[in-house]
Amino acid sequence: MKAISIQKYGDPSGMKVIDAPEPVAAPGQLLIAVEAIGVGGVDAVIRRGTIGSIGFPEGLVPGSEVAGRVIAAGDPADKGWIGRTVWAFTGLGGGYAEQAVAGLDDVTPLPEGLSPVDAVTIGSSGPVAHFGLAHAHFAQGESVLVRGAAGSIGILAVQMAALGGAREIAVTTSSPERGQRLRELGATVVLDRAGYVEQTDRDGHDSAREGHDSARDGREAVRDGQDSARNGHEAARGAQESERFGSEGSRAADGFDVIVDLVGGDGMPVFLERLADNGRMVSLGVVGGYPPADFGSALLRSFRRSLSYGTLSLDTVPVEARNRIRERNLAAAARGELRAVVHDVLPLPEASDAHRRMDAGEVFGRIVLTV
Ligand SMILES: NC(=O)c1ccc[n+]([C@@H]2O[C@H](COP(=O)([O-])OP(=O)(O)OC[C@H]3O[C@@H](n4cnc5c(N)ncnc54)[C@H](OP(=O)(O)O)[C@@H]3O)[C@@H](O)[C@H]2O)c1
Repeated sequence: MKAISIQKYGDPSGMKVIDAPEPVAAPGQLLIAVEAIGVGGVDAVIRRGTIGSIGFPEGLVPGSEVAGRVIAAGDPADKGWIGRTVWAFTGLGGGYAEQAVAGLDDVTPLPEGLSPVDAVTIGSSGPVAHFGLAHAHFAQGESVLVRGAAGSIGILAVQMAALGGAREIAVTTSSPERGQRLRELGATVVLDRAGYVEQTDRDGHDSAREGHDSARDGREAVRDGQDSARNGHEAARGAQESERFGSEGSRAADGFDVIVDLVGGDGMPVFLERLADNGRMVSLGVVGGYPPADFGSALLRSFRRSLSYGTLSLDTVPVEARNRIRERNLAAAARGELRAVVHDVLPLPEASDAHRRMDAGEVFGRIVLTV
């Protein structure tokens, strides 16, 4: 069978099409004739070699999320699975191939009317977004910020917050065009990556500039404000006040009950300061790198505001709960209640092109490979 193998970690050109032996379903596994493969952020992280030190071998077939038809079931798996179309998690590799295997715990049947392409856009990201919001104790009527909203997890977090009755849904993204697409999915306020209200949301250019500059002053005061917790806190509030120029910006600046963070990086502590009293931030990913080691001091400096920070990895969610939510997400997508945002569909041999486009930051949603 055809598969993609990482012959050399680093640039996407290190991925090659190879002839690989067909996998065999081990006891309790299903063998799937793959139709669609989700190209995830984690595939790019593995391929770049940045986590190569934890032992990915050369020749790895990447890819963890596929959909297709079951063609064999390893004893004691029920042979009734054969012929069914399923979504499957293949582990940290094995997905970029014409055939893949997955354990019974990692397989969900596709509901009527949902395509394999749409399934691999939602199957993994949906539960991550769901449990991220749940971990943050998101409740109806609250305001939510999704930081790094243009990826497949962020897009689903925006939609789920809207379906869950969020009062306001702010997003960070890198362009007004992407912001407009996020609005169509439920966002009500668009911020740039640094957290400023997009110029297009402002009443006027001058006031936007002024807001930018004084907000930056405020942030610097927050950063340098070690001398006194009070100073830092007031500067953060000052930064928020100074952003109250645009009609939507004023609401965004009031503080968020929940922040779902996919970015991390140097800018992360500034967003902690933008939580409302009793606000909760949950990190689901660090596409912008790790935050500064002392980011927690922002929480302690604001002790009297009762802010909370946590992380959520889907790996820690019990498998039954994960599968129940995935089934629910796929059914919602089949009914059109959740939208699968597919950036592009490419044939499997063009996997390196898919990765190049991810590295260039042009993907909105998810690229899907098809067999
Ligand atoms: N918690 C879990 O269980 C779990 C499970 C699977 C994956 N993950 C992780 O979740 C993260 C997000 O995955 P994804 O596929 O949804 O997203 P993604 O497409 O990799 O990134 C999300 C968005 O973040 C923005 N972004 C990228 N680099 C940035 C930077 N340096 N600074 C600020 N913004 C930046 C981009 O949008 P703009 O250009 O519009 O800003 C991008 O579309 C990844 O780190 C992934 O490994 C977590």
